[in-house]
Amino acid sequence: MKKKGSRTADTSAAQRAYHTLYASEPKVFNDTFAIQLTSPAWRFCLKNKWVAGLIEHHYDWIIPMIGHHVARSRYVEERLDKLVAEGFTQYVLLGAGMDSFAFRRPELEEKLTVYEIDHPGTQMRKHKRIQKLGITVPANVKYVPVDFEKDFLSEKLLAAGFQTNKKTLFAWLGVVPYLTEESILGTLKDISKITVTGSELIFDTLYRSAFTKGKGTMTGKKLFRSTRKKGEPMISGHDPEDLKKLLPEAGFELTGVVSPEDFTRMWFNGRKDALKPWKYSYVVRARVK
Ligand SMILES: C[S@@+](CC[C@H](N)C(=O)[O-])C[C@H]1O[C@@H](n2cnc3c(N)ncnc32)[C@H](O)[C@@H]1O
Repeated sequence: MKKKGSRTADTSAAQRAYHTLYASEPKVFNDTFAIQLTSPAWRFCLKNKWVAGLIEHHYDWIIPMIGHHVARSRYVEERLDKLVAEGFTQYVLLGAGMDSFAFRRPELEEKLTVYEIDHPGTQMRKHKRIQKLGITVPANVKYVPVDFEKDFLSEKLLAAGFQTNKKTLFAWLGVVPYLTEESILGTLKDISKITVTGSELIFDTLYRSAFTKGKGTMTGKKLFRSTRKKGEPMISGHDPEDLKKLLPEAGFELTGVVSPEDFTRMWFNGRKDALKPWKYSYVVRARVK
């Protein structure tokens, strides 16, 4: 990752913004703040209906990625609502990027502390954008700069006020494929070490076949190339079988795997547009033991 942070964070926000602005109803996920938080270049393109139309016709390889992005975000936020109702009081976004949850859900300010963890460069860019937009950061949000490849997440979280006895949901969306296996395992162990039993983690990863068969699809080819060109190559993937070993080793119990086919059944069948999640990414849910 370059010092100035992640460019894929801007692309992720741009995909949610595109969906919110232009997808057929019903939207899978409405991210009304994404357009403001993405890069100025993406904002310019997305605000122009004609330029945005180009995405549909000339960059249609990205459509399955948009499907995956909106499905994973909806999945996490629906789960969070359920867990908050059950008494969870902390939400940790690992590699938060341009996530806008805190701005969209001010009614949770009293109930939930949100920790946004991200690479220092990406987080600095987000701060600058928020400042420029003149948006007030809700009082329940804490920004914690962390490099998963270099820092101990637990140290940084504890220093920011993380409560080890409070039930917590960790969301790690769009990050695991960019990390080495060593730092994935290290970060997982670090989370379970400081987190009360029964807390949860949701993340997405790539099936191993993404690196072979998936790479041969138009979406795969462009995705691997564009992330590499941005200096953020995708290097890690797992099959559900791998997770049955990895997660218990790190102090978690695997509690659910949501495949693209599951997401299609849940939210995409019968849509007017061709939106569907990419076949090679999926979402995982785990519980701290
Ligand atoms: C594709 S973006 C996803 C952002 C956000 N979770 C989303 O879904 O929109 C990848 C995120 O992972 C973060 N990231 C990648 N490598 C990292 C590292 N070594 N340490 C901390 N954050 C990292 C980037 O800064 C970026 O915010």
